[in-house]
Amino acid sequence: MKTVYVLNGPNLNLLGTREPAIYGRHTLEDVRRLCEEASSEHGFSLVFRQTNHEGQLVDWLHEAGQLHARGELAGVVLNAAAYTHTSVALQDAVNATGVTLIELHISNTHARESFRHHSHIAPVARAVIAGLGVHGYPIAIAGLARVLAAG
Ligand code: DQA
Repeated sequence: MKTVYVLNGPNLNLLGTREPAIYGRHTLEDVRRLCEEASSEHGFSLVFRQTNHEGQLVDWLHEAGQLHARGELAGVVLNAAAYTHTSVALQDAVNATGVTLIELHISNTHARESFRHHSHIAPVARAVIAGLGVHGYPIAIAGLARVLAAG
């Protein structure tokens, strides 16, 4: 059974109360449940995590990279939150590990402030999903299943 990593960056622990007009009322626990359902539907085991620290995301990408090297990783869904727009280290980690990664945003970052229009992750992502609310997460997991099935 392959594993899917769903990694969430800073301030996403506050989902549900954080700017609900932008991010909705679903909590991170709701997102975890959606990811659990999608993972079991596609026969993946799930690692679901959140951190407010950039280096922790780098360490988790390295951990996912070790599974990737053993052929045990389905892929990574990464909502790096604000680090999307600032972190060269995250782009380097994706390149260094070779993981298949889908960049995920709850909001449509391109319809927001111009500083959110640039992503350091997008150039090394297999796909980018933005603006579907929390429902983007199970769609991203389904996307990883499709990518795997296509070989
Ligand atoms: C976000 C969009 C980012 O610009 C922002 O910094 C976030 C959340 C999203 O899911 O829409 O924290 O990644």
